Amino acid sequence: MSTNTVKKIACIGAGYVGGPSMAVIALQCPNIEVVVLDINEERIKAWNSDKLPIYEPGLEEVVFAARGRNLFFSTDTTKHLGEADVIFVSVNTPTKMSGIGAGRAADLTYWEGAARMIAAVSKSSKIVVEKSTVPVKTAEAIAKVLTRNCVDPNVKFEILSNPEFLAEGTAISDLTKPDRVLIGGQETPTGRAALEKLKWVYAHWVPDNRILMTNLWSAELAKLTANAMLAQRISSVNAISALCEATGADVSQVSYAIGMDSRIGPKFLQASVGFGGSCFQKDILNLCYVCESVGLKEVSDYWYTVVAMNDYQKQRFVERVISGMFNTVAGKRIAIFGFAFKKDTGDTRETPAIDVCRGLLADGAKCAVYDPQVAPIQMFRDLSAPKYAWDRPHGWTKSENHIMESVQAVSDPYSCAAGSHAICVLTEWDEFKGLDYAKMYDSMVKPAFVFDGRNILDHDALRKIGFVVYALGKPLDPFLVRG
Ligand code: UDX
Ligand code: ADP
Repeated sequence: MSTNTVKKIACIGAGYVGGPSMAVIALQCPNIEVVVLDINEERIKAWNSDKLPIYEPGLEEVVFAARGRNLFFSTDTTKHLGEADVIFVSVNTPTKMSGIGAGRAADLTYWEGAARMIAAVSKSSKIVVEKSTVPVKTAEAIAKVLTRNCVDPNVKFEILSNPEFLAEGTAISDLTKPDRVLIGGQETPTGRAALEKLKWVYAHWVPDNRILMTNLWSAELAKLTANAMLAQRISSVNAISALCEATGADVSQVSYAIGMDSRIGPKFLQASVGFGGSCFQKDILNLCYVCESVGLKEVSDYWYTVVAMNDYQKQRFVERVISGMFNTVAGKRIAIFGFAFKKDTGDTRETPAIDVCRGLLADGAKCAVYDPQVAPIQMFRDLSAPKYAWDRPHGWTKSENHIMESVQAVSDPYSCAAGSHAICVLTEWDEFKGLDYAKMYDSMVKPAFVFDGRNILDHDALRKIGFVVYALGKPLDPFLVRG
């Protein structure tokens, strides 16, 4: 038997990353017992039920195939952490809301909590793997917490960084056929042995040349950089979308033309109302804070513009809606199509819909929201929670009454549009493309507007029906051009 053998893996954090990534490991490695742990009992209950706590295409098939065989979900941290050879940590790493680095730095409270828990229950040596994105040099800090808090001097901890690159909506294919798996470790004999052990796990299904091994800091920084560069492409094309509207160019044509340059490539050039998701903004802010902490102000300022441009894009969209509708949306019902931060997920973390709805509500609009996967309670929570509060398991504030009064969650798109002055498309759900817009038009207040923040609808067909159409980054309808 290989010395690399791993018998049991535990993962702290049964969220969007921990759940799917451990499910795929369990499916691909039937010889390894995989236990996913969480402090949130409801979440664990849901993972053990027929209705999983997150919506992700293909996830059910993977979980149902491995669950009960070698995949388990549990709250019994003491037992499972104690028995595991390898422990993945995939807990929340929110942006700090107060104190030093507020609004930029990562709050490592949950991470430190997880490390203390590991130290307290470990009776044998462990490999501890950073899975959630963390600032550069977190591994060093965590190593100190682990070694200083473990009473047994014979227990040794080896820290690895194994950042996850899955994107929501395509998590299962990203995990099954990853572009690369990145593992960072200490450049010591024990560090290298730990790297080999984790590599052995992935080698069950990932080709050798796609498993990259680096030092710890490179792995941590590569993750932040990958997200920053992806977000930067979106902010760049979104900046150009504003210029397109001002000049009569069409951003889709510009994106297509530049994407054919093999040095640029066609992906991540889709102009939108703004990027969302749990990672992009948080990781860039984190990157900025790390740069500031080492005195690289110019580098920090450079990356910060990616976030600033994203905020501008969301604000610009709100202003378009308001100015298009004769500079007032007060008392007007606006149908919001899509609340999730992208299609094929029910996740709303940092979704542009939050800022857009808030902007419209601030001007007195009434928002009727339809999303095929987002529960009404989630929409209300998001619209009333303070910035950065979403990443704290117990950090929700109660919904504010005045927001509840002006927001209505609607369970089908036709009732959502009925009686509305405008439809705003904020998520690119495929189902929005196939709806009967003529039927909706008949039920709406005239002039009826469509503001397509994702450029997924057939704008000419909508114009033929009678809609005034705003398509992001496209030549403006004469109706929308200020005289
Ligand atoms: C991202 C990274 O892609 C992934 O590698 C990392 O592990 C986590 O962060 P995710 O946030 O799940 O994944 O989704 P992604 O597909 O990257 O989309 C992020 C946001 O950018 C979404 O709001 C999406 O709508 C937006 N986007 C994406 C655009 O506006 N235009 C594009 O061209 C692509
Ligand atoms: P991600 O998108 O990174 O997976 P999530 O917020 O979806 O983030 O998941 C993080 C999970 O980690 C949450 O379900 C949370 O309850 C859990 N968690 C946070 N701290 C701990 C801890 N000390 N022990 C166990 N679970 C934890």
